[in-house]
Amino acid sequence: MKKIYILFSFFFLTLSTFCQPNESFKITHGPWLTQMSETGVTILWTTSKNAVSWVEVAPDDGTNFYGEERPRYFDTKNGRIRATSTLHKVEIRNLKPGTSYRYAIFSKELLNWENDARILYGATIANPGYARNPLSFKTFSGEDDSVNFLIFNDVHGRSQLMKDLCKVIDFKTIDMVVFNGDMASSVYSEEQLFTDFLDAAVSLFASRIPIVYVRGNHETRGPYSDFLSDYFPTSTGNIYQLLNVGKVAFLLLDCGEDKPDSDIEYSGLADFDSYREKEATWLKSVVQTKEYKNADIKLAILHMPLMSSDWHGTLHLNELFLPVLNEAGVTAMFSGHTHQYAYNKPIAGKINFPVLVNSNNGIVLCNIDNGKVKATITYSNGSKPQEIILN
Ligand SMILES: [Fe+2]
Repeated sequence: MKKIYILFSFFFLTLSTFCQPNESFKITHGPWLTQMSETGVTILWTTSKNAVSWVEVAPDDGTNFYGEERPRYFDTKNGRIRATSTLHKVEIRNLKPGTSYRYAIFSKELLNWENDARILYGATIANPGYARNPLSFKTFSGEDDSVNFLIFNDVHGRSQLMKDLCKVIDFKTIDMVVFNGDMASSVYSEEQLFTDFLDAAVSLFASRIPIVYVRGNHETRGPYSDFLSDYFPTSTGNIYQLLNVGKVAFLLLDCGEDKPDSDIEYSGLADFDSYREKEATWLKSVVQTKEYKNADIKLAILHMPLMSSDWHGTLHLNELFLPVLNEAGVTAMFSGHTHQYAYNKPIAGKINFPVLVNSNNGIVLCNIDNGKVKATITYSNGSKPQEIILN
């Protein structure tokens, strides 16, 4: 009798284990967009467990999302669909310029990888396309004369500040949002990225409008900082890059740290002198490309403002980047870092372009229209917005 009881107990225990709804498999953060171009975008999100993930994309043409099978774009790496990650990044390609698309994200839980011919999957979860207000984005267009973008910097984990600053922003008119450094004070974990700024960004705009990440010096700190670029991938793998939007070229520059590499604050982990030298070599060549030279407006984005301090990082950037930028027809530079607003005009013989330094409590709305670059800075305390024409 005892044996039968044990057998039945085992049977019901096993049954209940298999029948339990897998409630813990879910989309945990995102989606957010990055690497927008005229023909593509990268979409990222996280799940609570490892999963195979994909995105289905449909043009925003009034058809039902489920009127036909939509193309699927998988989260792949070097030709293989990724199944062993909770961070999912799907590159969408071959889109039309200046075109709106709807999208839906899917993740299928990986339960057990017994061998390559026998992988057991669980439930598929989705942010489906039949939602009343489906997820969507619009690709950049090379024909656009007007480009509008926002800049946040020096948020230092104050996600509520981001929400406060965005109360006056009409995101319908925004092409992209630049994070110009020090969004976090240091990077200790994935969760911190979300609580510091990324969840706020998703709730405000990032599922529809791409993030452009320009690293600050503080984001080079912390044990998880090496993984920051996994959340904001670039086509080259480098953090610094050239981005073309309409007739505007953006030099997205990476500043490194502000003190000498040997400073005790870095515990022997800083190697930014040689990094900046490598970046300067890239900068010299990228300003010679037709993608840069043919742009009507040329903007540089760099967290630490040039010519504004005598700390080692700035001095080194002045030495390496400034001679190149001075010869490259830069229209204006956007910076942060100092936590104080400044508008530094060009200085004859030293710096050929103005540098707009945003404080740690303002958001910059930049409108480029008919060749004019206008910046409007709004503050969270409700003080009067500042408006500056940069060219
Ligand atoms: Fe900074």
